[in-house]
Amino acid sequence: MKLRTLFSEKDIAEKVKELGEQISRDYQGKSLTVIALLNGALPFTADLIRHISIPVYLDSFASSSYVNDSSSKELTVRSRLKEPVTGKHILLVDDILDTGHSLAACVEYFREMKPASIKTCVFLDKKLDTVKPIQADYAGYSVENLYVVGYGLDSYELYRNLPFVGVVEND
Ligand code: IMP
Ligand code: MG
Repeated sequence: MKLRTLFSEKDIAEKVKELGEQISRDYQGKSLTVIALLNGALPFTADLIRHISIPVYLDSFASSSYVNDSSSKELTVRSRLKEPVTGKHILLVDDILDTGHSLAACVEYFREMKPASIKTCVFLDKKLDTVKPIQADYAGYSVENLYVVGYGLDSYELYRNLPFVGVVEND
């Protein structure tokens, strides 16, 4: 498989630092519960929290979203949080915002737990012609509507370990 690099390790490092610093400024004087949406958000979350200078609680959450028979979105939850998030400022972190359905469903799920606030952060935001049900509060790079892999993003569970983001080229 041939990969064309879209975002190099250097591009990633620069953007993640920028995001971490912005988050630190926005939450100044507060503490933040960062929730990594597994598995894709793992590398990004690991890098991001090291650029956040306010106190951070780290947690993770595994789920998948699907459309049920009556066309409403449902979330299958595969893990529980370690600590309750009621009254906490929470930041949901994901690798990429594509249609936005998964992240929107997660936000709804966590809103029920009555956090003090809930925001979202994605490394990539895919450019789509359709309107998304959610916009990320923090987004790294916007990316064309291509299937990308690396830096947490998989193709059939492979390539998450690539240190860069690339697109599969057929030659
Ligand atoms: P959404 O619900 O359509 O926003 O899907 C979000 C999830 O789909 C992401 O968290 C990724 O796991 C996956 N995904 C969407 N686009 C891509 C891609 O280009 N490469 C790899 N995974 C993707
Ligand atoms: Mg994912």
